[in-house]
Amino acid sequence: MILSLSRPVTLVLSTLLLLNFYLFHRVLHQPTVTSTFAINTTPAQQQQQQQQQQQQQEQQQQAFLSPTPTPTPEPTTAVQPTWTTLPISAATATPTPTPTAFPLKLWQKSGPKGISPDLQTYIQSWHALNPALRHEILSDDSALAYVEETFRKNWPEVADLYQQIQVPIIRADLLRLLILYADGGVWSDLDVTCEVPIEEWIPKDLVLGDGSLLTKERVNVVVGLEFDGWQFASWTLMAKPGLDHFEAAIEYVMHQMEGIAHSHNVSLSGVTMDMIPDVVDASGPQAITVALLRSLSHTLGQTVDRANITGLHEPRLLGDVLVLPQAAYAALQGGHPQDQGPYLVSHHYAGSWKNVQGGERRR
Ligand SMILES: *[C@@H]1O[C@H](CO)[C@@H](O)[C@H](O)[C@H]1NC(C)=O
Ligand SMILES: *[C@@H]1O[C@H](CO)[C@@H](O)[C@H](O)[C@H]1NC(C)=O
Repeated sequence: MILSLSRPVTLVLSTLLLLNFYLFHRVLHQPTVTSTFAINTTPAQQQQQQQQQQQQQEQQQQAFLSPTPTPTPEPTTAVQPTWTTLPISAATATPTPTPTAFPLKLWQKSGPKGISPDLQTYIQSWHALNPALRHEILSDDSALAYVEETFRKNWPEVADLYQQIQVPIIRADLLRLLILYADGGVWSDLDVTCEVPIEEWIPKDLVLGDGSLLTKERVNVVVGLEFDGWQFASWTLMAKPGLDHFEAAIEYVMHQMEGIAHSHNVSLSGVTMDMIPDVVDASGPQAITVALLRSLSHTLGQTVDRANITGLHEPRLLGDVLVLPQAAYAALQGGHPQDQGPYLVSHHYAGSWKNVQGGERRR
């Protein structure tokens, strides 16, 4: 029968056969094609995903930038460093939040008497030498608002401490630490004049003791030394924001205050000037010095102490802290020594006495 088919019929049949194969093939492939397509998202969905990723990244950055305190210290413990938990290797393994530049911003605080003409002249010196300087002078009220805004959410114990402590000098000491930790930049008391542009405070091309070159990128904190004693001057301080060193300094002052309150059986708000054995030790220059040296010792895994910061004739880099010779910030007090490099600021000691309420700085 097949053999009897005519030629045109055979042609039609074979064409149909081929078509059949082709269609069968298509049907086989169809499901695979649709399933791969289903995985792909529409452009609108892609956009949404990207936005979510971006939001997550921004939230992570925010978390880095905002102060992230270690757990609250217990109120009654004596001065105990709380930073002994994190191994150095773990600390360096995580991305560091430290930006590479010092914010070119000056922070100051006015007292209840406001800004006298003398102080105006001092303030002018900063602007004359640093035309691009941003500048904020806080009052009692705006300082309180700043601390609330900056710390209430992320470190409420600090906001509480600042609110409760009633001794003005302690508040002033604490405020500079909080600002440098949260925002960084330059803190300076109002009775200080600028003598060299801030951007030149870290010397260029200085060869350090180990033969390496000092660069701005290696420095996170700049401190000067006082002439009377072996401590960091607290009237002028420069730092990048978010440093463990300042977190440690804040915790140090917090412990001191809690210890004093506890030993007098009062709340933090009940602490008065006469309960504080020495403000310099509790929250002032000595407190900053001890806290920073401890924090440095912890970071470097070796003891950094008085021996490392005395008798300097040029800046010395300890870890990420650049310590300036006494002449840098205290040349006026030290009789203008000629062998210690440039005088960067002058401290005029407007508040060189303190009243019984601790209203003015002693040094
Ligand atoms: C501490 O003060 C409270 C009341 O303020 C009092 O009840 C308590 O006895 C005091 N404790 C000491 C050890 O003085
Ligand atoms: C601190 O001083 C000691 C003793 O001179 C020295 O061994 C150590 O390396 C110094 N530390 C730093 C960080 O320079």
